[in-house]
Amino acid sequence: MSLSTILGIESSCDDTAAAILCNGKILANITATQTVHAQYGGVVPELASRAHQSNIIPVIEMALAKAHITMDELSAVAVTQGPGLMGSLLVGLNVAKGLCIAKDLPLIGVNHLQAHIAALFIDRDVSLPMLCLLVSGGHTQIVYVTTPMTMEIIGSTCDDAAGEAFDKGAKLMGLPYPGGPFIDQHAKNGNPLAFGFPDSQTKEFDFSFSGIKTSLLYFLQKHIASDPLFLETHLPDVCASYQRQIIMSLLKRFEKAIQRFKPVSIGLTGGVSANSELRQKFLVLEQKYAITAIIPELEFCTDNAAMVAMAGYHQYLNRDFTSLCALPYNRVKQS
Ligand code: KG4
Ligand code: ZN
Repeated sequence: MSLSTILGIESSCDDTAAAILCNGKILANITATQTVHAQYGGVVPELASRAHQSNIIPVIEMALAKAHITMDELSAVAVTQGPGLMGSLLVGLNVAKGLCIAKDLPLIGVNHLQAHIAALFIDRDVSLPMLCLLVSGGHTQIVYVTTPMTMEIIGSTCDDAAGEAFDKGAKLMGLPYPGGPFIDQHAKNGNPLAFGFPDSQTKEFDFSFSGIKTSLLYFLQKHIASDPLFLETHLPDVCASYQRQIIMSLLKRFEKAIQRFKPVSIGLTGGVSANSELRQKFLVLEQKYAITAIIPELEFCTDNAAMVAMAGYHQYLNRDFTSLCALPYNRVKQS
């Protein structure tokens, strides 16, 4: 088989990233995380596009230098085409198109959610079919994966994503954005059984996280009204209890799906898969159901370009190329 060297580019939200993948092996994975949004408590789309514009060329150059590759050695450019923020996607897609035109390379438009799933295939052979729990800042899905290119969404959130529940909950507790890692840290010193938060009623494999965020709001209002220092004294317990309920909601549906679909392996991916308690509880399922559990390295969990390059590699092998006239999109559909 001839050598395939793929440049992956990711710019769907607030991370500008580039990676080089050679015959399925990651040679470089560079991410510039935008810090400008922290002061606003969430991603500001216009600022994100501008930061992508300044970061994208240096990030690509760093990835090429780290991999000791020149543009002339590339076989294709894979780029996140959607879903994501329109202005942010446009920056990555247009840079990718420019490189393809300049170097006469095929363009590979990648679905961001399929890329999160492709992260599970980095540096390992995966036994299929795999049931995958995809938990990010924008999406929460259970996906049944039969080949690296063929997958079906069998459950998804009706409202907020799990990452949003972490981020919005953290905001209510006065923690910085993005709040997931802060809740994770504080929860380590707290009692997960200190307080109870409700789960929402949903169709069997679907999720709902807007209710838990609202119940946290009322819970905090009630306790702070009678004790203004409530959060100062109980922050770890609130974080641990809130996190426990989000994880229970995720795993309850996921376990039901394992029992129904009987996969050979299970995978956890997306930014929330960086959560230490979720990782630990997910691995318990390995013994419980006697199946292989896969969780990517931390650098491949949150948004990164290695996963885009990996998804692009699978498409490259199938000659699944994208027109240079292609536009970014916001539909979720996969496969
Ligand atoms: O996949 P990702 O990087 O971006 C999207 O595609 O959305 O996910 C970002 C999300 C944020 O909501 C962030 O708070 C969450 O992942 N996250 C975590 C942790 N690290 C990142 N949530 C809980 N615990 C963590 N350790
Ligand atoms: Zn993502």
